[in-house]
Amino acid sequence: MRAFLYIVVVALASDAVRCLYLPGAEFGGLRNSASSLSRFARVRRLPRPSHRVIDPNEDCFLVTSDEGELFFKSPSDEPTVCGIYMIAEPDKKIEVVFNYLDVPCDNGGLVAWIDGWELNGQVWPADSWDDDRLVESCDKRPNRKLVSRQNAALIQYRVPAQGKGFAVTIRHVRNARPCNVMLFGTEGVFTLRNHGETGNCTLITVSPSTVQVLDLNVGQTAKKGRLLELETGTIHHCTKRGLPDHVDIGGASGLDHTKMEVFDSLCGLDSNEARRASLIACEDTVARLVSSGKYHNSITLAFTPLSLDDIEHADLICGLNDL
Ligand SMILES: *[C@@H]1O[C@H](CO)[C@@H](O)[C@H](O)[C@H]1NC(C)=O
Repeated sequence: MRAFLYIVVVALASDAVRCLYLPGAEFGGLRNSASSLSRFARVRRLPRPSHRVIDPNEDCFLVTSDEGELFFKSPSDEPTVCGIYMIAEPDKKIEVVFNYLDVPCDNGGLVAWIDGWELNGQVWPADSWDDDRLVESCDKRPNRKLVSRQNAALIQYRVPAQGKGFAVTIRHVRNARPCNVMLFGTEGVFTLRNHGETGNCTLITVSPSTVQVLDLNVGQTAKKGRLLELETGTIHHCTKRGLPDHVDIGGASGLDHTKMEVFDSLCGLDSNEARRASLIACEDTVARLVSSGKYHNSITLAFTPLSLDDIEHADLICGLNDL
C-alpha cells in the first residue's frame, strides 16, 4: 500500500472527535462512546444545489451524499490536507470524473482518489484493499472515470499553490451486488448477502448503534442438494461451534473492521425478528458475514443510533480490554 495523505480529523473537528482518540482515558469507554455520538455533528453537509465551490475554511473535512459538481480553488500556498468523503445509498457505487485538474506537483501538490475511506490512518474496507484503490494525480487529471466498488469513496487533496485547484463531477451508479456497505447516519434496514460467493461481506455504521436481526438465513440454504429447509432458530456463538458460515456482530475503534471486537456470532434459519437489539457502544458498529461459498446466506439488520441512556446497558463497549 502506498503512502496516504493522512487526514487527522482531530485537528479539524476538535473536541467532539478528540475524545475518541485519547486511548484508554480513565474508564474511557463510556465517555468516548457518548462523545462519538456527535462525531459528525459539526461536519457540514452540502445542501441540494449540485454545483458548488468548496469553502476552504469550512469544508476541509467534507462529507457529502450528493451528486453534482464540486470545485476547489486553493486559498493559499499552505500544504493543508483535506478530504471529500463521498457516501451513497447502500446499493450504489460512487463515480467520479475529474473535469479539470490544475495542481502543480511542486511542494507536494497532490490529488488522490481512494476507492474507500481513510480516517486517522485506518482504511475501509481493509480486508479487500489493494493498490488499485488509490489513484494519485498532479499536473494531469486522471482521464478515465473512477468508480468505487462500494457505496463510499474519498478524494484527498493537498494544493499548496494559491489559485490552483480542480473540479469533479460525482455520480451515484447502481451496484447490483453490494458486499461491503457503509451506513452513515445509522438509521436504516439493510440485507447483507454473499450472493453464493466465498468470503466476507461487511456492513459498518460510522457511529455507535443498536443492531437488531430481523431475518436470518446463514449456513442453511445449500447451493446444491437439500430440498427441505429447517427453521433452526437463531444459533449463537457459531464460531465456537465450528460453523464456518456465520455473522459476527460487534464494533470497532476506527474504520478497520478487520480489528472488530465480536459480541456474538450468529447462524441458522430464523424468520422471526430477534427479541431484542444488541447495543454496541463502539466508534463504529460492524456486522460481518463470513461465507464458505457452500450456501446462499443473507441477514437483514435494523440499525438505530445508540442513545446516551443506552450506553450503560451496552452489550459491547469497545476498548475495555485495553484498559
Ligand atoms: C473473514 O473473516 C474471518 C473472521 O471471522 C477471518 O478469519 C478471515 O481471514 C476473513 N477472510 C478474508 C478473506 O478477509
